Amino acid sequence: MNAVIRVIHGDCLTQLPKRDEAFSLIYLDPPFFTGSVQRSVTRDGISEYSYDDSWPSLTSYLDYIKVRLEAAISVASSSASIIYHCDWRTSHHARRLLEELLGPEHFRAEIIWTYRRWSNSKRGLMPAHQTLLWFSMGDDYVFNQTYEAYSPTTNVDQLLQMRTRDERNKSVYALDDAGSVVPNGVKKGVPLSDVWDIPYLNPKAKERVGYPTQKPVALLSRIVKTFSNIEDLVLDPFCGSGTTLVAAQMLGRAACGIDANKDAIEICRRRLEQPVITQSRVLEVGRESYRREDDSWTSFLSGLAVTPVHRNSAIDAVLKDGHLGLPVLLRVQRAGESIAELRAKMRAVVQKKQARVGFVVQTEPSSQSSLFNTALDSSVFVVNSASNEIRIILAGLDAESHSEMKRGASEEDCCSAESK
Ligand SMILES: C[S@@+](CC[C@H](N)C(=O)[O-])C[C@H]1O[C@@H](n2cnc3c(N)ncnc32)[C@H](O)[C@@H]1O
Repeated sequence: MNAVIRVIHGDCLTQLPKRDEAFSLIYLDPPFFTGSVQRSVTRDGISEYSYDDSWPSLTSYLDYIKVRLEAAISVASSSASIIYHCDWRTSHHARRLLEELLGPEHFRAEIIWTYRRWSNSKRGLMPAHQTLLWFSMGDDYVFNQTYEAYSPTTNVDQLLQMRTRDERNKSVYALDDAGSVVPNGVKKGVPLSDVWDIPYLNPKAKERVGYPTQKPVALLSRIVKTFSNIEDLVLDPFCGSGTTLVAAQMLGRAACGIDANKDAIEICRRRLEQPVITQSRVLEVGRESYRREDDSWTSFLSGLAVTPVHRNSAIDAVLKDGHLGLPVLLRVQRAGESIAELRAKMRAVVQKKQARVGFVVQTEPSSQSSLFNTALDSSVFVVNSASNEIRIILAGLDAESHSEMKRGASEEDCCSAESK
């Protein structure tokens, strides 16, 4: 697939390609009206990029957007989709604007792009979504259906059995003449919904180029795949670092990107030459996979209030309340794992994360278990039954100073508890 990708520097109001080119998909991701300069640095910390997102007033912002939206719409094909990316600040204004320009009957959906974020201490609800307004130019638009995995709570009958309606029009499982269930064949999954759970790029993702408000290729790939066909023409009038162009190139669509920022254009060109895409495991196998892969350890921590940690081989969970304001880390031994190795790994993590203490919960018998807790190291303890022993040891840590611990005071608690 060798689709032509064009990158144009300038204001999208004046730099749009000629009207004889009709675009099948127009994705617009303009500044969000944040009222500040958007800045970001590259992963190596060497370069900083920015664009201005401050405006004298909401009216001046909406006027700016409206004329550019009109211009973009003027180069759309009669079957094109328009995807307008915004957030809580202006989604209601943008919808009105689009309805005014395209007609309310051409509104197709409000797509919520949701992602997980680190918590902050702000009072109120933490924003964890952005909005994609989908409008079409007419009734004959491209929509390539895709299917998502069933939720883990889906009942096996729902997957395997045919449904029908009863006399009260209620959905029920179908039965044949002999009263047996009717198989449903192979189901593809659940049709794509209007809530898209796609991870935001994490600060260390290789895909991150350091351009502010860079969107993930995974998000743009879904948009391009869903609303256009191979060899269709895609337009991004506010292309920034060129995420849409990378997705279009990868998926065999021709595309044109415009940006007023010279840095953005340079980044786009570099990115198109050597695209880097971070694969999202959450997208490939689902967020639940982190949890379901191996949760045998959870039963060993019952009775303790913990937050599970899913992506660190040295830790299974952290104690919710910590201890004296510091984290307490927990790891449960799996079949065949060496306690000595787990202990060494835990010690390293305790140091690195500046945790108060780490516990390795031993689940397999060992004649040497009591040797693991030494008077010289009170940063990691090996315990058998997590909840009781951990409480005893933490109580010991409460009572004694860290240096006293080193002299072995509470070590005895630990070792004696372990050998019970
Ligand atoms: C939200 S960012 C786009 C980010 C992009 N989707 C990405 O993944 O990197 C908005 C972009 O609009 C550009 N911009 C603002 N006004 C513009 C205009 N009149 N014409 C073209 N680009 C403009 C800014 O320079 C900025 O790069």
